[in-house]
Amino acid sequence: MKKKLIAGNWKMNGSLVANESLLQSLLAGIGQPACQVAVCVPAVYLAQCQALLKGGVIELGAQDISSHEGGAFTGEISPAMLKEFGLRYAIVGHSERRQYHGETDELVAAKAQSALASGITPIVCVGETLAEREAGKTEEVVKRQLAAVISTNGHCISEVVVAYEPVWAIGTGLSATAEQAQQVHAVLRAQLKAATPNADRIKLLYGGSMNAANAASLLAQPDIDGGLIGGAALKPKDFLAIIAAAA
Ligand code: PGA
Repeated sequence: MKKKLIAGNWKMNGSLVANESLLQSLLAGIGQPACQVAVCVPAVYLAQCQALLKGGVIELGAQDISSHEGGAFTGEISPAMLKEFGLRYAIVGHSERRQYHGETDELVAAKAQSALASGITPIVCVGETLAEREAGKTEEVVKRQLAAVISTNGHCISEVVVAYEPVWAIGTGLSATAEQAQQVHAVLRAQLKAATPNADRIKLLYGGSMNAANAASLLAQPDIDGGLIGGAALKPKDFLAIIAAAA
C-alpha cells in the first residue's frame, strides 16, 4: 500500500532557537511513523535543519525553487543549491506565491520541471479561491493549474506530489469537509489517469486548516494520500497527532 505523506509547511516562520526546539520535540515523539514525514523550512534554515534531522525519519523540503539552473537571478535559489542540503521535496505554486509573487501556471510548471530534473520531488499546489468556488469554477481552476504541470512535464508527472489547497481554507481554520476535499481529489486523480498509467501511485495531499481534530476523517478518503500542514506544523503536539492519524 502507498504510504501517506505528511508535510509541514513552515512558511515564513521560525528562528534558530525555535526550529531547534520544534524539531527536537518532533524527533522525541515521532517513533517509527507509519507514513512519510517532511518539513518544508525557510531556505536560510536548511543547513540547520539538515544537521538536526540527520539520520532520522523526517525529510527536508524547501518552500520554493528556481526554474533556472543558475546565473543572474538575484534572490533565487537553484535546484543544485537545494540539493546540497539533502533536500527531498520543494513546494511549488503555493497559493501565497501565486497571489503575492504573481506566479503563473506556466512558471509553476517550469519550477516543477526544474525540481524533477534535479531529483527533487515537487509538491505542486493547486486550489481555488472562495470567489471561484462560489462561481462554480473549482474544477475548472484546479484542472487548468494541473494541466500546465502535466503538459510541461510529460511522463515525469508520475514523480510529482500534488497538494489540493483551497485558498479559502488556508490559515482560516475553515477546512474543506472530507467530502468536499475528496470530490476535488477524485477530479485530479482522473486528470492524472488520463496523463499517465501510474496515476494511482501519485500522492495527492490535502492542505488548508488540517489539524489534529479533522486529520483522520480527511485522510480516510480514498484519494487523499496525505496532508500539507501550515499552522499545525509549528505545534509539535498537533503535528505529531496528524502524523499518527496518517497510520
Ligand atoms: P494551513 O496552511 O494548514 O495553516 O491552513 C496550509 C498551507 O498553506 O500549506
